[in-house]
Amino acid sequence: MAETVSDVGGRVRVSSASAAETGRLASHLAGVAEAGDVIALRGDLGAGKTQFAKGFARGLGVSAVVNSPSFTLMAEYSGRLPLFHLDLYRLGGAADALAGGLLDERQAAGVTLIEWAERLDGPVGGADLEVRFEGVGDEIRQIELHARTERGARCLARMRAAMPGEDQP
Ligand SMILES: Nc1ncnc2c1ncn2[C@@H]1O[C@H](COP(=O)(O)OP(=O)(O)O)[C@@H](O)[C@H]1O
Ligand SMILES: [Mg+2]
Repeated sequence: MAETVSDVGGRVRVSSASAAETGRLASHLAGVAEAGDVIALRGDLGAGKTQFAKGFARGLGVSAVVNSPSFTLMAEYSGRLPLFHLDLYRLGGAADALAGGLLDERQAAGVTLIEWAERLDGPVGGADLEVRFEGVGDEIRQIELHARTERGARCLARMRAAMPGEDQP
């Protein structure tokens, strides 16, 4: 399991040495996610956002293969909860105009993962949890989970409790 470096308040910082470790971290988070949670994945191209999404889907019990939904903006999968996976990489100046149409009432019943959420302001940008990835290529990834709302803080607290081998605060 990835090594936890520190966690302060509404933050969990983890280092990950492989895509598999990143996937396991995401799978733990998926295990404690609740309907309505919105999670923004931030980081450079190749940082590991889609690897995280794949692990998250596995943790939700999604059997379908999760890939980048770049050409559809959003893909929906069924698992313990519905998973909505968005990748806004190709959104340009039209992002704000599109924002209102990307999230709809169905998403209250599932968990939403958004790659490149920083391309939007407004409701989509207002995620409950932000997951920041630093490092690309062969580098060790530093992954920081940051609670942005009370809902996000509760989710992080459940995740800390579920992660094995971690010092409890
Ligand atoms: N610790 C790590 N975590 C995630 N991916 C990693 C890690 N180390 C190497 N990789 C590799 O980096 C790439 C990440 O790609 P991807 O998840 O598609 O990035 P993004 O969606 O952020 O653009 C994959 O080829 C993966 O195998
Ligand atoms: Mg991606």
